[in-house]
Amino acid sequence: YSNNKRSTEVAAPISTVPYELADIDWDNLGFAITPTDYMYIMKCSEGQSFTKGELQRFGNIELSPSAGVLNYGQGLFEGLKAYRKHDGSILLFRPEENALRLMMGAERMCMPSPTIEQFVDAVKATVLANKRWIPPPGKGSLYIRPLLMGSGAVLGLAPAPEYTFLIYVSPVGNYFKEGIAPIHLVVETEVHRATPGGTGGVKTIGNYASVLKAQTLAKARGFTDVLYLDCVSKKYLEEVSSCNVFVVKGNTISTPTIKGTILPGITRKSIIDVAQSQGFQVEERLVAVDELLDADEVFCTGTAVVISPVGSITYRDERVSYRNSGIGVVSQQLYSALTGLQMGLMEDTMDWIVEL
Ligand code: COI
Repeated sequence: YSNNKRSTEVAAPISTVPYELADIDWDNLGFAITPTDYMYIMKCSEGQSFTKGELQRFGNIELSPSAGVLNYGQGLFEGLKAYRKHDGSILLFRPEENALRLMMGAERMCMPSPTIEQFVDAVKATVLANKRWIPPPGKGSLYIRPLLMGSGAVLGLAPAPEYTFLIYVSPVGNYFKEGIAPIHLVVETEVHRATPGGTGGVKTIGNYASVLKAQTLAKARGFTDVLYLDCVSKKYLEEVSSCNVFVVKGNTISTPTIKGTILPGITRKSIIDVAQSQGFQVEERLVAVDELLDADEVFCTGTAVVISPVGSITYRDERVSYRNSGIGVVSQQLYSALTGLQMGLMEDTMDWIVEL
């Protein structure tokens, strides 16, 4: 999907590293699936709680053709990353936040969910079992993908009788093929990703399938991705297909407020805190599409995306450009601060890092 061109670290020669590494091309990781060694699986029946899961060899899973997730989309996913430090230690970024978001989503989707402790323990066990797939420092990260799904068989529309919590992992590099270069977005005026009262604010699988058509058409027109507007007034920014959006004007950084139609990104929340700690004024509010016209910088945030600078946005056939090349000053400053914490290059004053 992309080449891993952005790095803030110098990697040690792989032959001298003090840890075991899988034999893959660590210099060309994109955001694509690489099968690893183990996955974690935990099951429970409807109305029950998850009790005990186990690691299994990574591979295909068996599902009834009438599984709730396949027929009615009763499923949620999460995304977080593990980074490797030079000394071989492994860092997770705010895994409890993913656990909490999964619990909130499970409530919306009528599913039982693992406790925060079960979630974090399962993430740790899966990462440790796949340790040799964590990229060397500066080469990328291990992307951790928890899934929660209605795995039991149903025919009539109803919550599934059985649920599966599963975690798999894959080494990854940059999400967008642009790497460090700014991405190019198009504002979608007809297709909406979420509606008030719908499921836009939880990480359900259907939110992502529903943007594929707009995203595919945008890519065919040469854009990197799509920026969605609210479906009521068609005037306010919501988010990009796979990430949240921020608009910079002077010392103020604005981002659409969380109101049920926007995914509460953990990177979004972290960037708000980091920006405030660096003296920026951060506003969570309705951000009108017209504000893109005189913004200094626009950037996207997400676990997969990290921080991605936006080079241009096209709205009703008019293109606003922010930079010809490279990342904006504010975006760069926040990128360095965030990745410095995530990669263990800076002191964790926020208490966000879980070290394995
Ligand atoms: C993430 O950023 O982790 C996500 O879940 C977005 C996904 C579309 C890759």
